[in-house]
Amino acid sequence: MIVESIGISLCISGLLFSAVRKTTLDQQKIQHTFKNIDYDAKGYAPTLLKTIKKDSYFEYVYNVPYGLIDDDKLQPVLQKTLDKPVHVYFDGKLHVRVYHKKLKDRYNYDMFESLGGWTIPVGMAQEGVVYHDFDTIPHMVVAGSTTWGKTVFMKMLMTHLIENNPDGVEFYILDLKGGLAFHRYRNLKQVKVVAGDYKESAKALKMVKRDIKKDMDYLKSIDAENAKEGNLPTRKFIIIDEAGELKPEKSMSDTDKEYAKDCQSIMNHIARVAGQVGYKMIFGTQYPTKEILDSQIKANAVARVAFRLVTSVQSGVAIDQSGAETLEYPGRAIYKTVKEHIVQTPFITKFEMQEKLRRYEVNDDTTREESTTPRTDTITIG
Ligand SMILES: Nc1ncnc2c1ncn2[C@@H]1O[C@H](COP(=O)(O)OP(=O)(O)OP(=O)(O)O)[C@@H](O)[C@H]1O
Ligand SMILES: [Mg+2]
Repeated sequence: MIVESIGISLCISGLLFSAVRKTTLDQQKIQHTFKNIDYDAKGYAPTLLKTIKKDSYFEYVYNVPYGLIDDDKLQPVLQKTLDKPVHVYFDGKLHVRVYHKKLKDRYNYDMFESLGGWTIPVGMAQEGVVYHDFDTIPHMVVAGSTTWGKTVFMKMLMTHLIENNPDGVEFYILDLKGGLAFHRYRNLKQVKVVAGDYKESAKALKMVKRDIKKDMDYLKSIDAENAKEGNLPTRKFIIIDEAGELKPEKSMSDTDKEYAKDCQSIMNHIARVAGQVGYKMIFGTQYPTKEILDSQIKANAVARVAFRLVTSVQSGVAIDQSGAETLEYPGRAIYKTVKEHIVQTPFITKFEMQEKLRRYEVNDDTTREESTTPRTDTITIG
């Protein structure tokens, strides 16, 4: 008995010693890095205030001298120096979070459990799986430069919501790269429309606006404040894959410009008033600029998923902070609501998606009409 407890206490002291050693080493390296890259104000470097120890990371919190602010260089430099995932953020104090393990560069969709309702897995973070609940935060911006994972993410989101709740979701998809990414899903009973150009997009969004009005009138009539309270059975998702295409450009014809303006105005309307009525907008873009990510959409799309972006300025527009320009792998993203997480988003192949969704295909408009309940108007485009 005595021998056993001595053994246990030696083991505990061993673990504690190793944790203390790890923190001291990291902390020394961080302090040296501050010195080497001149991260100071008139020779005064940040001073360590406390160390927070969690299962998956240690976080060092520093007091910084007045006048010293966040520096975009810190995160990538510390990450390379410590050879560990590092997350730096600033909230009056400087926080350097050093994770124990690196995230993998791929997590297959099937390993993510479903939480039901209108919740999706956003990805694997150092702290475990992170989920997003569209009933809590309705609108989402998905930003990222070309080939870093936006479309795969939006398709994964759609697959998950359909698998989870086949009779409780409807999709309106604006696939503005000619309808190529989502075309094959146009026959799913949950997909009301896949619009591939300006005219189709404007038509689809006008239909959404009309439905919003109907749903609002209904909720008013039963004195309910939102879709949840009014027990509305369906949530409607408007997926926009490349919202940048909706920015009116000189090269567009006058009619297309008008359609694009109509689309923008309805998108703003959805962002402002439709979230609580059960309409959720997923606003995907390669180019998070102030013109494309309009201030009203930004103010109302509180959930942001940023894949790799080209510059810290773009990252600033997408998630109000730098960081997305340093993400290293396709599918790696910063998910930000009030808190933020670095995640590896679930990976799903086209083939897996087709296998999972095949059973919801309806072959023609007659069967579509019969097989989905309750339906409002259906439009068939193309
Ligand atoms: N979650 C993921 N995990 C691992 N790899 C991924 C993930 N998501 C995407 N990828 C890889 O990145 C490639 C490009 O992804 P995707 O088509 O989603 O990019 P995109 O951001 O939509 O690009 P574009 O703006 O050009 O349309 C995929 O074919 C896949 O190889
Ligand atoms: Mg894409």
